[in-house]
Amino acid sequence: MDGLHSTITLNNGVKMPRFGLGVWKTDNRTSRDSVAAAIKNGYLAIDTARQYGNEQGTGAGIKLGLEQAGLKRSDLFVTTKLYNGEQGDYDQVSRAFENQLKDLGLDYVDLYLMHWPVDKTYIESYHAMEKLYREGKVRAIGVSNFDNDRMEKLLEEAEVIPAVNQMEFNPTNQEREILAFDQSHDIEMTAWSPLGGGESLTNPVIDALAKKYDRSAAQIILRWEWQRDIVTVVKSTHEKRIIQNSQIFDFSLSDEDVQKINELDQGKRGLWYDDFQWHNPNGKVANGIDQWPDTRK
Ligand code: A2P
Repeated sequence: MDGLHSTITLNNGVKMPRFGLGVWKTDNRTSRDSVAAAIKNGYLAIDTARQYGNEQGTGAGIKLGLEQAGLKRSDLFVTTKLYNGEQGDYDQVSRAFENQLKDLGLDYVDLYLMHWPVDKTYIESYHAMEKLYREGKVRAIGVSNFDNDRMEKLLEEAEVIPAVNQMEFNPTNQEREILAFDQSHDIEMTAWSPLGGGESLTNPVIDALAKKYDRSAAQIILRWEWQRDIVTVVKSTHEKRIIQNSQIFDFSLSDEDVQKINELDQGKRGLWYDDFQWHNPNGKVANGIDQWPDTRK
């Protein structure tokens, strides 16, 4: 099946939609509205996190969207993430998870990701997530923002191979080494910030392709990700853009044009997490409990 119904099969056999909506840095009300609008317009995957502070709104949007679209919970694929400050042993992580379920108004999530590898606690926390998985509370577990060294260490300890590693991925940051490593271990590297925080939208190469194909810059980037077989969640808080972003299944980029975008890679990761640890604005590793580092360029 093509389009919004298209899925990939994760390493544990669970099917995950290849295209979905993200709600990064969106308040509860906006999150509710954009999630409901996305589901109403055919999206089947929703991605949130404790860190975003909008699980209640996301849950309300899921409920509303499912009602409006006449769908069942099982038609939807919901991802959320363990907050850095709630990493720890099983008691700690399961308490955090139960609170997340409550806020989302759900009795399971499809994919539970560790948001960041907090060095002191990520192995213990991952074991706790494995237990949640074995208990059937989540259909798949995975991680996010794991570089290859930390992933290798995790794989040495893990009993359940992470299904997913969600990474920043966009034209100027293509994470080639992480993609190759994850693929070789049957881990699906998926994309956050597929539009590069908006920056790639103004890139002249993308702009020229937008004119050539008579599409928006966002559609060109998302279509490129689609043709690169990268599972994507894209954020927009505007229904028009939510719809536009999903209209990428009726055209294709030539191999040459895919290559042109491949060549935009600068390995340009957001500076504030270049060592994959969470930083306070003063630059000190904070292990993630307190701040959202809003210093992206
Ligand atoms: P908005 O919510 O106002 O639509 P990324 O996915 O890389 O994080 O980028 C998300 C940013 O791109 C958001 O700020 C979002 O803003 C914007 N965006 C999403 N879709 C589009 C679009 N089709 N055209 C222009 N900007 C978009």
